[in-house]
Amino acid sequence: MTPTPKPTIAEIEPYRPGKSQAHGVARVIKLSANENALGCSPAARRAFVEAASSLHLYPDSRAAKLREALAARHDIASERIVLGAGSDEIFSLACQAYLSPGDVMVQPRFAFAAWAIAARAAGAHVVSAPEREYAVDVDAMLACVDARTRMVFVANPASPTGTSIPFADIERLHAGLPEHVILILDGAYAEFADFDAACYWRLAGAPNVILTRTFSKLYGLATLRVGWGYCPKPVADALNRIRLPFNVSAPAQAAAIAALEDAAFTARSIEHAKAGRARLAATLTEMGFVALPATANFVTLRVPDAFRLSAADINRGLAERGVLVRALDNYGMPDCLRVTVGDDVAMSAFDAALRSLLGA
Ligand SMILES: Cc1ncc(COP(=O)(O)O)c(C=O)c1O
Repeated sequence: MTPTPKPTIAEIEPYRPGKSQAHGVARVIKLSANENALGCSPAARRAFVEAASSLHLYPDSRAAKLREALAARHDIASERIVLGAGSDEIFSLACQAYLSPGDVMVQPRFAFAAWAIAARAAGAHVVSAPEREYAVDVDAMLACVDARTRMVFVANPASPTGTSIPFADIERLHAGLPEHVILILDGAYAEFADFDAACYWRLAGAPNVILTRTFSKLYGLATLRVGWGYCPKPVADALNRIRLPFNVSAPAQAAAIAALEDAAFTARSIEHAKAGRARLAATLTEMGFVALPATANFVTLRVPDAFRLSAADINRGLAERGVLVRALDNYGMPDCLRVTVGDDVAMSAFDAALRSLLGA
């Protein structure tokens, strides 16, 4: 008899990150992981480098200064903030703490892959609700909630689709859930949306809502792995019991604090993403693709049925030309591709590569 993992582990498809290498291409243009086109705040980079003088010391396990800085920035309670190695870790902690084998997690059909990994790792089953036109359908999600449901995940804006729904619909989703069901509202792209990201806090008073945020997108610190959850106090206490003590490194904490203070960088990033996605969507539409309504720092395109190349052909052809976008077959969207809004050089390279491919 060999050791066997819990039954739901076999259902997990390992996370497939956006590609960062193409065979035979020395320098690629990476538009596959929704990273910040402008890099990160110079102040954050300086804080990271300064922290290098103390690499022999453990970080502050409570990340007190970072939690205080976040609390001041958003006018929220620092004791309700739980820091994670990316928001991915918050999803994982929440699932470990609140899902038992046989429980059910409900998510929209086109959902961020890490949620299901976390739920299944905890022994739970995942039920995916149909979407409408690649957007979250609140009624369909509520229809999936039954006596076994313990957790519901939703992101607004969503990835991989890039679409958003009105915040009132998120509130309707919450209002339709029994109080013992936790709603995790993933705000990884909140600041890029057309709605005011402040509306997230309207759900902060609920006893069963975890709001998650990340430093990976707006703040451009993806490699440092800093994310956080804003939790009801009892939930924060539960997550902190199982959180590994030193999960966010000291350089990451220092850089995150500096990043929070650089309002000019974040404003530029938002402006760049909004203008860039509008330009990219227009170009893609002109080329005959369907651009899904883009509300984050990327555009998801659908290749129409009659198009002369498939999404897989385009993905391959772009990679051969050194431009990496995200294939979405593992998200159940084999006719779609997700393209991050890059910097001007990257967007010109994408444009040229795609034109050469379509012309070829
Ligand atoms: C919807 C969504 N949530 C969360 C994340 C992960 O964020 P983090 O880097 O904080 O783990 C991503 C990353 O691509 C994402 O698309």
